[in-house]
Amino acid sequence: MAEILVDMRSITKRFPGILANDAIDFQVERGEIHALLGENGAGKSTLMSVLSGFYRPDAGEIWLRGRKASLHSPRQALDHGIGMVHQHFRLVETFTVVENVLLGTTGGPQLFLNRRKYEGTIAGFAKNYGIDIDPRAKIWQLSVGEKQRIEILKLLYRGADILILDEPTAVLTPQDVRDLFKTLRQMTDSGQAIILITHKLQEVMEVADRITVLRKGRNAGTVFKKDVDERMLTGMMVERDLLTVTPPRQHRIGAPVLRLKNASVIGDRGLIALKGVSLEVRSGEILGVAGITGNGQRELAEAITGLRPLTRGKLLIGNADLTNQGPGRLIRAGVGSIPEDRLGTGLVPGLDIYDNVILKDYRRDPISRRQIIDRHAVSDRANRLVSKFQIQTSDLNYPVRLMSGGNLQRLLLAREISLQPKLVIASYPVRGLDVGATESVYRLLTDLCNKGVAILLISEDLDELLSLADRIAVLFRGEIMGIVDAKEADIEDLGLMMVGVLKEPAGA
Ligand SMILES: Nc1ncnc2c1ncn2[C@@H]1O[C@H](COP(=O)(O)OP(=O)(O)O)[C@@H](O)[C@H]1O
Ligand SMILES: [Mg+2]
Repeated sequence: MAEILVDMRSITKRFPGILANDAIDFQVERGEIHALLGENGAGKSTLMSVLSGFYRPDAGEIWLRGRKASLHSPRQALDHGIGMVHQHFRLVETFTVVENVLLGTTGGPQLFLNRRKYEGTIAGFAKNYGIDIDPRAKIWQLSVGEKQRIEILKLLYRGADILILDEPTAVLTPQDVRDLFKTLRQMTDSGQAIILITHKLQEVMEVADRITVLRKGRNAGTVFKKDVDERMLTGMMVERDLLTVTPPRQHRIGAPVLRLKNASVIGDRGLIALKGVSLEVRSGEILGVAGITGNGQRELAEAITGLRPLTRGKLLIGNADLTNQGPGRLIRAGVGSIPEDRLGTGLVPGLDIYDNVILKDYRRDPISRRQIIDRHAVSDRANRLVSKFQIQTSDLNYPVRLMSGGNLQRLLLAREISLQPKLVIASYPVRGLDVGATESVYRLLTDLCNKGVAILLISEDLDELLSLADRIAVLFRGEIMGIVDAKEADIEDLGLMMVGVLKEPAGA
């Protein structure tokens, strides 16, 4: 058996309100490519930031080469041979390749003066790993793939023999990916160890020797690649556990409230974010939207609430064609929204509860008569909502940014419900909430649905979707990979659709 280089024991790391790493054990051996696999938010980057000295764990021990280590900084981690290439590069754009590699090494200033001398040495050093570079090129002149190679080179040159790469292929072309994997293999052949953070199954099957799957901050298992297939890994990534409470549903499903037909939209970066998406949500129905965040979920919610225009296709509410009619028309047509950023687009953080509950209809009866806001009506509504939805607050005049996450979410829901919507778009409605607040949000959503409201529930949590939704649509790279009945859904199939491996025939 190969030497154990890294032995992380029961590592726990908390962020405010979030247990990012929950007593995780993780080992790495010399000469292996060890994939750290898991969905977004599973805790991968956090665990590796602990190993590379960026974060201190709240509990647990790190043993390196058989000795207990304490890593207070990335510098100390590097002294132990651990280097991490982050998702965002840390190169000085106006410096050359050689200057970046030398930057921060011991004896830096002198080395800098003699950098011509080092150009040959570093280029030769790089070649050993199959990395072809021009040492005099300025960083800003390089492609993303080349910059990544310089980051790797920097760490190797400083003696790193345990190299961590955080989602390194996300920014690369397929050609760059092949080159990177070749370089990684050369490194492990010469005794180094690689930890490859990824959520892509194909990649893991292609390049890893061993795989550790993280799921919701826990280690869901470590396996040899030769013993598993994509289906098994998916099962480990998204394995199902039961919700604490599943509120009763009535399932009296009526006529379509929302119909999206062949809709396409462009995202913030000018690229297509939704491609020919067709779906409908009926009265009394919860349609879940599953998928790894960043696959078009935000743009979908924005398209339906009128914040993002359709470049193709149609949006119908009931029988009215409201394609590109703007958010105001959609609100009046009965579209409510629980956006993912509660204090960004949902509520106004600096305003108090009174102002926040009338935000969407202050110009209308009964809140406003002849352009004058009726303060009694406002106060009436605010007090009614606070007591009905059990919103805890000491003073309705305080800015809402002082409220806890659970209370904010109840306030947001209360406001949307008070507008008597026909359709509610709920984006990650329980993200960051504790168990109690989560249950109350689930209850509010199911009550709403039982009253005949159509709900589109966007979530990354398959457990949540399977217990709340009637049907589940899976988004991958802006396309619907399939829409399945929640009662008959196969969790592994859902997982495979989420990573783009499986596509159900349309209408299945
Ligand atoms: N600096 C931070 N502050 C607060 N929460 C964080 C921070 N970094 C990560 N988190 C949270 O910790 C959890 C794990 O995140 P992360 O380790 O980045 O997951 P992954 O890399 O697997 O996608 C997530 O819920 C994330 O929102
Ligand atoms: Mg990450």
